[in-house]
Amino acid sequence: MAMETGSKSRILVIGATGTLGRNLVRASLAAGHSTFALVREPAFSDPQKSLLLRSFSADGVNILKGSLQDFQSLLEAVKQVDVVICAVPSNQTLNQKLLIQAIKEAGCIKRFVPSEFGADPDKVQILGMDHGHYEMKTEIRRCIENEGIPYTYISCNLLMRYLLPSLVQPGLNAPPRDKITIFGDGNVKAVSIMDIDVATFTICTIDDPRTLDTVLYLRPPGNVYSMNELVEMWEMKIGKMLEKVYVPEEQLLRIIQETPFPSNRHFIFIYSAFIKGDHTYFSIDSSGLDGCKLYPHVKYTTVSEYLDSLL
Ligand SMILES: NC(=O)c1ccc[n+]([C@@H]2O[C@H](COP(=O)([O-])OP(=O)(O)OC[C@H]3O[C@@H](n4cnc5c(N)ncnc54)[C@H](OP(=O)(O)O)[C@@H]3O)[C@@H](O)[C@H]2O)c1
Repeated sequence: MAMETGSKSRILVIGATGTLGRNLVRASLAAGHSTFALVREPAFSDPQKSLLLRSFSADGVNILKGSLQDFQSLLEAVKQVDVVICAVPSNQTLNQKLLIQAIKEAGCIKRFVPSEFGADPDKVQILGMDHGHYEMKTEIRRCIENEGIPYTYISCNLLMRYLLPSLVQPGLNAPPRDKITIFGDGNVKAVSIMDIDVATFTICTIDDPRTLDTVLYLRPPGNVYSMNELVEMWEMKIGKMLEKVYVPEEQLLRIIQETPFPSNRHFIFIYSAFIKGDHTYFSIDSSGLDGCKLYPHVKYTTVSEYLDSLL
């Protein structure tokens, strides 16, 4: 087992060429951690990804070849670090089981952050309608806990890039300027946050004993809004009132049922966030830790600032 050289943990990011993963790599470097990236072979011949990898190397990232399907590559990578952060897409969730085996066998990992980065899978109230999206994340949690691997789960709720670019209007690429659809009564609050801010909060937890074996919730005060509040904010910014079309819960459920998966995914996440209130219906204090209270120094992009960028 390699020895830790500094006081800061060495961090391995799996999924480093991805949208969240590249932000995790940058946040890790910015915080002064020795940073490793496990990268799949095809990324080296992809023009954009190879450029990214070259810039990572120039910044001191140790690039390792491997994949979640290759146990030996995982074991070798894991043995070189103290902390593993995984940011692979949700269709790879269960493939983290081999990684868990490698972490167990290596025996040197002080903390594992599995690929979650959404609503808390143990809290969501839409089980059975999301085609296993959250159930698989829960299964990985239980594997980690059963193996006795130290962990931190990051529950960041929605990434801003997911529904906010259209102001929660599936099928649109920008917020509407005439007519807007509001799901439910529009009063249920949901949380959105930028990838880079999720990455910064995640890296803050790494050497923080308070965040060991618990869930870190990200619910920044400037990022918790209902659809009615989002629309009102947008109207103020564009100086115009929008025509509102309300889609009640029963109608949204019908849309979800009648639209084949995965085309109905956006509607499922809207139902979870803006009708069931899965981001905000429970108190953080009874379930884990509040990232904004632990790390008040982190400057995050607010929803209002994000909407300004769409004007
Ligand atoms: N809350 C939200 O609103 C929201 C929205 C989107 C995503 N997320 C979550 O954020 C996390 C990251 O998602 P993302 O959108 O940033 O992902 P992404 O951009 O699709 O990137 C995925 C990364 O994983 C790598 N990867 C995929 N399969 C792999 C395998 N078998 N072995 C090793 N590496 C593999 C990819 O490598 P290659 O370059 O080789 O393809 C890429 O680096 C996930 O947990 C996802 O559920 C949350």
